[in-house]
Amino acid sequence: MRLDKYLSNMGLGSRKDARGIIGSGVVTVDGHVVRAADAKIQEGVSNVQVNGQNIAYKPFVYLMLYKPAGYLSATEDGRGGPVATDLIGDDFNFYNLGPAGRLDKDAEGFLLLTNDGPFVHRIITPEQHVEKQYFVRLRTSITSEDQEAFQAGIQFKDGTLCRPAKLEAGAEPNTAFVTIHEGKFHQVKKMFLARNNEVVYLKRISIGGVPLDETLQPGAYRELTQEEMERLL
Ligand code: URA
Repeated sequence: MRLDKYLSNMGLGSRKDARGIIGSGVVTVDGHVVRAADAKIQEGVSNVQVNGQNIAYKPFVYLMLYKPAGYLSATEDGRGGPVATDLIGDDFNFYNLGPAGRLDKDAEGFLLLTNDGPFVHRIITPEQHVEKQYFVRLRTSITSEDQEAFQAGIQFKDGTLCRPAKLEAGAEPNTAFVTIHEGKFHQVKKMFLARNNEVVYLKRISIGGVPLDETLQPGAYRELTQEEMERLL
């Protein structure tokens, strides 16, 4: 990776800022002052310092993406359509990022992207009970029988059993909040189909108690904070 990109990726500002820092002669690579912004760095191998401070390579990144509807939560779409990782810019796209769990193409909201495989496993495995919360708009309003059925564990029309889930009415008519601890294919949509209702809009609003940042616009992302990481783990 280029030195200016490395410094920028490790949080020292924009690429332009990084070039300014490099130009001022305070950057060393393996003990030698380097003034070329395009000097090659081997991530995790080269020792990069700014003013004598180590700028260590971060092997893992964890991004909160506000996935807009229309993007597949994958790194590739066999049909050539847009995918979530297309939204990631130069700042992080050299990391081999993938989604932790799925979110339907027509759904929007919190998609966690990371290059940390064991972390993905922890987030998606039902045994870890990481809760995911969704806001839904429905064809018809929910009933107290629906809430009891969600609490008892919904059975899909094909017989598949779900773990107990929480269903709460939203403030507007025909809206609700659903909290689940697993991630079966089209799970929330199928849960409502099993209750003879239908999801017309679906947004994931939190994962593991970490809410989707309200300041993020659809398509925008940011790194998870230390506090959010601790909550998730
Ligand atoms: N449930 C669904 O039906 N779709 C999603 O994307 C997530 C949960």
